[in-house]
Parts: sequence; structure tokens; C-alpha cells
Amino acid sequence: MPNQQTPILVLGPMASEIDALTAALTDAEETRLGDYRCVAGLLDGVPVVTVRTFIGMVHAAAATALAASHFSPRCVLIQGTAGAHDPALHRGDLVLGASLIEMGSYYTLHRDVGGGSRYEDYVFPGVELPFGGEPKRVRTLESDPSLLAIAEAVPYLRGRRVTGTISSGDLWNRELDVLDRLHRECGSLCEEMEGFAVAQVCRMLGLPMLAVRVISNSEWHAGEDFDESVALWCQEYCRELIAQIDRNLGGGGKQ
Ligand code: 5AD
Repeated sequence: MPNQQTPILVLGPMASEIDALTAALTDAEETRLGDYRCVAGLLDGVPVVTVRTFIGMVHAAAATALAASHFSPRCVLIQGTAGAHDPALHRGDLVLGASLIEMGSYYTLHRDVGGGSRYEDYVFPGVELPFGGEPKRVRTLESDPSLLAIAEAVPYLRGRRVTGTISSGDLWNRELDVLDRLHRECGSLCEEMEGFAVAQVCRMLGLPMLAVRVISNSEWHAGEDFDESVALWCQEYCRELIAQIDRNLGGGGKQ
């Protein structure tokens, strides 16, 4: 009876980023929350709810908030594909997001007509979040250290696995100077369009979360254009990760 136990909530933006996990569920039961298709079931005996969030920050936040209040999960995984910021990363490598930054939240300096645009001058002041009801600016949000430690012990054999910062925003950068600035100045390893929004909602709800991404494209390397098929490798890894979370933290699956 999966729905009577505390599930792990697993989010994936595109069909290719969640369907493999959903297909692996047994005793599956579908719930629609708005347009978000949530499937509750057992993944290798562990209660899980999968949700396709669709692409972008607003979808990610809305799907997380709706699913969290409907299913009361014990923790949240946001996973899927990402583009490399670090030139050392290649398609197929896996990134564990110890921290997340909002790369779409910036302001520009005044420039006169014809003055062009200079990314170097953009200022990233951080995002204002409520702490105990009072707004405070933060630059980064963190994944849960216990979930991260469990993830670091799960083998990933499709490529390298690294831990660090993931950038999120409703944009897709392909200019190498932009990727370079985000990498050098913010320590960002890769970019995607949902992680920070999920982390923001989870922080407000007091829910432990972890971001896991597979590199699906790198502007740094010829021939490494977007290939969403690697999303399968991320889901394969998350399947093992979920088993390990259940083993290490307990609280939901079969004993
Ligand atoms: N920039 C932004 N988002 C990316 N994604 C994969 N690569 C990139 C990239 N280089 C992910 C996003 C979104 C979908 C388009 O793929 O998270 O969900």
C-alpha cells in the first residue's frame, strides 16, 4: 500500500527525464494536480512519487509545492539534464548539486542607446527569501548534507561524478564568456532550469532536497550538443540512490 507510507518525491522536467522511473514503479496510482501528472508507487519496494514538472522555474516551484502538500514526502530529488559550465565536464558526467544559485536573477548598469550589452557588468545581488517571516538576500541554497553524503557513495559508471554548484534560471546560455564567468566567479559546474526553484520551495517547507544532473551538452566541446537520451543514465543512478536513501534513512519502504 504505497500511499500509506512516506514517499520520496522525484521530479523530472521533461518526459525523457522522468518516464523511465515512472515506468519502473509497481502498484502505481496516478494523481493529476493541475496539469502535473504524479504517479505514486513502489520503486524496488520503496514508496516513491514521480512528477513531470515541465520545463522552467515556475513549473518546478508549482509542481514541488503542490506535490509536497498532497503527498507529504520525506525528501525531494530534482533530477534531469544540464549544460556544462566547467570545461572539464563532458556529456554523460553526473553532477551532484551541493549548492544551487539563481543565474537569472541579475540587474544591469545603465547604458545609453547604442551602448550595447556587457555580461561582465551584470550584477547578481542574490534572491530575497523569507527567514522567519523576514526577507533576507541569499546567493546560494544548499542540498541536504545527509542526502548528498548518501549520493556520493552511490557508484556512477557512465562517466565522472562531481559535487558542486548548479546554476538555475529560465535561460539557456551558449556564450563561452558567460559560461566562463559563471564557472570562475560562482564556481558553477553546470546549468539547468529548475533546481533553485525546487530548493527554494523545499527550504520554505522544511523539506530535505537534493539536485542531481547529468551533463547533456557542453559548448566547450565540439560534438557535445544537447542529447536528452543521457537522462536515462541519471534516472538509472537515481533508482539506486533511492534504494540507498531508504536503506540509510529508513522511514518508508519495506524493512
Ligand atoms: N541550459 C539550460 N537548461 C538546460 N537543460 C539541459 N541543458 C541545459 C542548458 N544548457 C535542461 C533544463 C530544462 C531542459 C530544457 O533541459 O533543466 O528542463
